[in-house]
Amino acid sequence: MEKEVTVIEVGPRDGLQNLSQYVGTEKKIQLIKALADAGLREIQAGAFVSPRAIPQFRDMKELTAGIASLPGIKFSALVPNLRGTREAIAVGIDKLIYFFSLSETHNLNNVRQTREASLLGLKAIRELAASIPQTELTVALATVFGCPFEGFLSTGHVLRNVEKVAALDIREITLCDTVGFGNPRQVEEILTACRDAFPDITFAVHFHNTRGLGLANALRAYDVGIRRFDAALGGLGGCPFAPGASGNIATEDLAFMFAGMGIATGIDLEGLLEATRLLERLLPGVALSGSLYRAGLPRPQPPEAGREGIPPGPEISLPPHQDW
Ligand code: COA
Ligand code: ZN
Repeated sequence: MEKEVTVIEVGPRDGLQNLSQYVGTEKKIQLIKALADAGLREIQAGAFVSPRAIPQFRDMKELTAGIASLPGIKFSALVPNLRGTREAIAVGIDKLIYFFSLSETHNLNNVRQTREASLLGLKAIRELAASIPQTELTVALATVFGCPFEGFLSTGHVLRNVEKVAALDIREITLCDTVGFGNPRQVEEILTACRDAFPDITFAVHFHNTRGLGLANALRAYDVGIRRFDAALGGLGGCPFAPGASGNIATEDLAFMFAGMGIATGIDLEGLLEATRLLERLLPGVALSGSLYRAGLPRPQPPEAGREGIPPGPEISLPPHQDW
């Protein structure tokens, strides 16, 4: 199996949507530029949702104009309905992400409609997107690994819903752990079942670190063959319509883990920490939760490092021998 993964940066969307403070367009553009400089090639720029529901994304038109000149980046955005889809297409978003929840209660809270209505909405959006071949359409399924209202959902329930989405000719599906209920055993079970039942679908994963298992879940997902991972700079994030939601896996931590394992991400860790520093400056008073940012990169190994790759330690002078 190839040792390469795609890390999809969702910070400008998931990371900012739950903040009480509005982040101005210029700041968002600066952040996205820093992420692009660090080597991120797929960036979720925001969401074409109701500004009443999420005020943070009221500037999508200006924002997309400000980042349009960045070369080689695939920009995606969430779309909840036909209106958002039309607006996203009009400003040249490369990839539309239609989203709904596998839990009926969370779906009603989040997008204010039943899952059945969400599937009907997807059908209409599929037809519209099919007429614009340069625009990709994918689906993100929320609460796959558990819901704050309905608890854990069965693997059979996940499979039945994935099947309905697959039947609408969707070829990429992101399975989201919206509130960090997931654990590696369950991640393995659900992902293996999905992969085996739908070998033609590319599955991506989106883990929140709410209960500290984000990276463990990502690693297990990698082990069962997943190669696309959402993450948010600084570990920000959370769905405002899911009680108890907190941050995504921090992009820095995920990239650091893959780098250490010799798995290519195309991300420059120094550049990414530079972007995290910028994020901290742009969001005064907002605590970032990533571990690498707090601890820093390990001291680089000097060229004269020992054969096993362990740098020589300081000279230790032992005290003269004494009998105790
Ligand atoms: N973009 C901008 N505005 C939109 C919109 C869109 N895609 N879709 C609807 N609206 C506006 C309507 O014009 C209306 O505005 P008004 O109250 O000023 O007249 C208002 O939103 C309500 O429209 P309605 O069609 O009745 O939608 P709703 O109240 O049933 O809400 C959603 C449905 C999906 C639009 C709304 O719940 C939403 O945007 N949710 C966002 C969920 C989200 O992003 N969650 C986090 C990610 S997991
Ligand atoms: Zn999320």
